[in-house]
Amino acid sequence: METAIARRFMSAVVGFRLPYPPVFTCRRLAACTMRNYRYRRFDPSDAPSVCGCVRSRERLQRISGDCGDSLTPDILHRWSSDARAAIVVHLVHDQTAAGFCTLSRQEVAGLPDAAIEICHFVVSPAWQFRGLGSFLFYSARALAWHLGYRSLLGRIVPSNLPALTLATSLSGQEIAANEMSLPSSFRWFRWSLTSDCLRWEFYHATCAERSQGDRFV
Ligand SMILES: CC(C)(COP(=O)(O)OP(=O)(O)OC[C@H]1O[C@@H](n2cnc3c(N)ncnc32)[C@H](O)[C@@H]1OP(=O)(O)O)[C@@H](O)C(=O)NCCC(=O)NCCS
Repeated sequence: METAIARRFMSAVVGFRLPYPPVFTCRRLAACTMRNYRYRRFDPSDAPSVCGCVRSRERLQRISGDCGDSLTPDILHRWSSDARAAIVVHLVHDQTAAGFCTLSRQEVAGLPDAAIEICHFVVSPAWQFRGLGSFLFYSARALAWHLGYRSLLGRIVPSNLPALTLATSLSGQEIAANEMSLPSSFRWFRWSLTSDCLRWEFYHATCAERSQGDRFV
């Protein structure tokens, strides 16, 4: 408990965060880290750092059906141009992308009209366990709301324990694939998009000085 308070103090006052072991509750820490992270639209100049997040075949297979030993700029270009939006998260004082995801209706057929899928979701190995995945999710969720969607879907390879833990921690509602005729080789999660997304944005805006580049709409 004392350690947790010390970490929050360091985050709030000193402005940087210590690495933390996974035993701490992520939700609370994710709230702290909002001071230190920003989100913005993906730019082609982000390609090297995003590709650096996916340097193994196993990681690539966790986030897409693409074959290869690692993520390449060509694959990344296709993902981002097929998507409704692609975003990155980065540290306040460092523009280098540390996480990436897309919002897409192209990756799977048969999504309901008001739904969009969160895809290609990845955090740099160097930045895992610091609440960045949660921050990336909340950023994508707020953007999906602004784009007019009312439901966010995510699919996870059943053996991907970190992603399943993240989805559960983010209160995703697991749905049966056959409920919407979705591919049954994945576990599917759904989040309803409500004005709660705006509450998160407001919180983020009050925590962080938002630059023009942070705005999506
Ligand atoms: C899954 C992933 C995005 C999580 O990113 P992250 O920045 O570490 O996530 P957070 O720090 O916000 O953690 C969120 C929750 O997930 C849990 N979690 C994260 N990594 C975990 C791991 N390796 N094992 C178990 N739980 C894990 C955290 O403990 C936390 O749970 P809590 O809220 O109950 O404390 C990251 O591990 C990753 O990029 N993995 C490879 C690509 C991938 O699998 N993408 C998902 C495709 S569906």
